Amino acid sequence: MKLELTIIAGPHQGREFVFDGHDTFLVGRVKDAHFQLSFDDPYFSRRHFLVEVNPPRCRVLDLNSRNGTLLNGARVQTAEVADGDKISAGHTVFQVRLIAPDPAENVTLDLPMDSNRVDPTVDFQPCRVDQTIDCQPMPAGIPGYRVEGELGRGGMGVVYYAKRERDGLAVALKTIQPAIGASQKQIDRFLRECRILAQLEHPNIVAFHESGESNGLIFLVMDLVDGPDLGAKLKAEGPGDIRTAVRIMCQMLGGLAHAHSMGFVHRDIKPANILIGQTGTKRIAKLADFGLARVYETSRISGLTMQGEVGGTPEFMAPEQVTHYRDVKPAADQYSAAATLYKLLTGRPTHDLPLGIGAQLAHIVCVKPVPITERRADIPPKLATVIHKALSREPEERYPDVMAFRKELKRFV
Ligand SMILES: Nc1ncnc2c1ncn2[C@@H]1O[C@H](COP(=O)(O)OP(=O)(O)OP(=O)(O)O)[C@@H](O)[C@H]1O
Ligand SMILES: [Mg+2]
Repeated sequence: MKLELTIIAGPHQGREFVFDGHDTFLVGRVKDAHFQLSFDDPYFSRRHFLVEVNPPRCRVLDLNSRNGTLLNGARVQTAEVADGDKISAGHTVFQVRLIAPDPAENVTLDLPMDSNRVDPTVDFQPCRVDQTIDCQPMPAGIPGYRVEGELGRGGMGVVYYAKRERDGLAVALKTIQPAIGASQKQIDRFLRECRILAQLEHPNIVAFHESGESNGLIFLVMDLVDGPDLGAKLKAEGPGDIRTAVRIMCQMLGGLAHAHSMGFVHRDIKPANILIGQTGTKRIAKLADFGLARVYETSRISGLTMQGEVGGTPEFMAPEQVTHYRDVKPAADQYSAAATLYKLLTGRPTHDLPLGIGAQLAHIVCVKPVPITERRADIPPKLATVIHKALSREPEERYPDVMAFRKELKRFV
């Protein structure tokens, strides 16, 4: 199954782009656009539109372009695209063609989008809507574990408190209900990739024990961290003092640097994925869900994953994670870490996001973050400079790596 975009009008008529997997395709005049239009077409914006492809599905997202993006002649902000549709911007027209469509294939698109269309996979996101309604029963029969209570819910599923039968060890058990249509091969791939995560051993990373499948439910077993996650803490207590937030971030960045050195990218750093544990009298920050966002998505067992994960907003996503979805690098984690610190310090997101997830993604790609000192006046200007450098839109304008970012932050603890 492939999806082909062919330019059928405009100065680059005849060019073709073929996608056989999940990808994003940026069209505009900027140098890192996948399709870079020269200055032939004055109606083209620097970042004009983005196409998210996961054959047979495809979506278009206008990036606040001056002259708009048209789907079959009608101006759109975000829209689902089908075989035979035409996307146009300025004088350039792309035709979409599906090659060898297989209607049985169940795939998902993972950038968060408004979805006023009914999505066939969305039903299988367990109960994000109302956390007080327990619509997923406690899983029974997970071999080797006794489930004792619920710890919380996220975009992928429910996290339980459980005991390992062999030795009574308390663990956190994350369960994931695969989307209907996910094949055994896809589930096996997910489990295989999860096992790779077990290589990550660091005091600031939640240790991963094992993964498996039981009665159609996927489960991941990890260390139980007794403290709250920073998302919950922030919600309950509001932003705390500057030194504590920076100290937590420096710990987390230590774990992140270790993972980066081993070639892992987290892709979903946010307050809810930083847990505060206790070792003796000391509190320690631990990064959870390492690489899961990627593993979850590539294995195609997800529903509209990111939409659930980010609770409907792409608050912590680096711009290149929107535009260059497939090849996200450690610099994207640096951005998300800085966006997390920004939120911990101010209680507010880096951008005043508009309504509608499509418009929000476009905003993150196109608009600079609000200066953090406008959100909180007692932030030292030098700390603000450090945070904003890590939030640079261009990855090469950030710190060369997260250790360099951490070193600068250390001056404020
Ligand atoms: N290892 C753990 N130990 C203790 N509690 C945990 C652990 N992992 C997760 N939790 C709790 O379960 C909640 C749900 O976690 P989950 O990872 O599913 O959601 P999330 O982080 O909000 O979203 P995402 O799906 O993007 O990771 C967390 O916010 C946290 O409170
Ligand atoms: Mg999580």
